Amino acid sequence: MRLPFSILLSCFLFSPKGGLADAPYDQVQDNPTWSHQNLDDVRADKYFHESTFAEHYDGRFGDRKLNYDERRGHLTALMQTYISTMNDIGAETWIMHGSLLGWYWSRKILPWDSDVDAMVSEQSIHHLAAYHNMTVHTFNLHNDDAEDNSHRSYLLEINPHYVNSSLDEVNKIDARWIDTTTGLFIDVTTLRRNATADALGIDGSMMVKDRHHYNYDDIFPLRHTTFEGYPVKVPFMYADILIEEYGEKALSDVYFENHIFDAELREWRPLRYAELNLYQNDGAVMDAHYWAMSIASLYSPD
Ligand SMILES: *[C@@H]1O[C@H](CO)[C@@H](O)[C@H](O)[C@H]1NC(C)=O
Ligand SMILES: *[C@@H]1O[C@H](CO)[C@@H](O)[C@H](O)[C@H]1NC(C)=O
Ligand SMILES: *[C@@H]1O[C@H](CO)[C@@H](O)[C@H](O)[C@H]1NC(C)=O
Repeated sequence: MRLPFSILLSCFLFSPKGGLADAPYDQVQDNPTWSHQNLDDVRADKYFHESTFAEHYDGRFGDRKLNYDERRGHLTALMQTYISTMNDIGAETWIMHGSLLGWYWSRKILPWDSDVDAMVSEQSIHHLAAYHNMTVHTFNLHNDDAEDNSHRSYLLEINPHYVNSSLDEVNKIDARWIDTTTGLFIDVTTLRRNATADALGIDGSMMVKDRHHYNYDDIFPLRHTTFEGYPVKVPFMYADILIEEYGEKALSDVYFENHIFDAELREWRPLRYAELNLYQNDGAVMDAHYWAMSIASLYSPD
């Protein structure tokens, strides 16, 4: 059953009932009788498996792709519980990629996004691996109208290959924060020092196992801000990072993925069919740039 988005947001009371460290899967999984894990991996040592039905789901927990509305609510809760837990643990984390772009525009997940991305420091991944691997975090959902479970559990799982800093396509994800109800997850990657560059005397060269690379000063000092209503951190040079990854237009075009940015509500909303035609045929680019300028002035960093 789908929970109304607004109720889901306002009714979460974040009270982890204490971690269940190193839980075996049969204690964590509600539906141990089936699995939708895609085990046809390119390499036997790939640690995290996606589902058979979609890329952004864990097949041990989810059994189907959620529709647009359902997904939004679950992704928001996924992000909020992750941020809240990392803040409690004291792990240094910040949002990246599509999530950072969503933050830039509206301090929210982009409604068409099907995943959430976060990054942690090397120190934090060591800490998470040592003390929090396979911990289950339960959050109460106070909603009298909910036909759904009154609580949600999330699993924090650390890839044992995190200790290996070499570029590695199949084990580039160092940790996952997994919704054990739907199988949706947050991919967590680690920002590492580039040892090759260090050895060459190049200062501040950082890398991620998925081949992204940054300068130390692109990321640090992290900026404190909010995302989905929770305190979160973003990289210092967020605009440069976004432009490098998505191009200049990603920061100015208010028409994207069949959505339009409503500057008044500061929200992306799906385009209705008639609007879609208008924007595709009617030189809407001019309007877009005008809107973008007003948005840019609203969204200077905190
Ligand atoms: C986390 O726990 C799982 C399940 O016991 C294990 O397979 C994995 O290697 C552990 N990860 C780390 C970093 O120790
Ligand atoms: C680290 O990962 C790389 C890439 O998968 C692999 O070639 C190498 O053997 C690994 N090193 C260790 C110590 O496991
Ligand atoms: C690490 O630094 C070296 C030397 O500057 C560079 O050639 C290499 O591409 C960097 N690695 C990554 C993953 O960014």
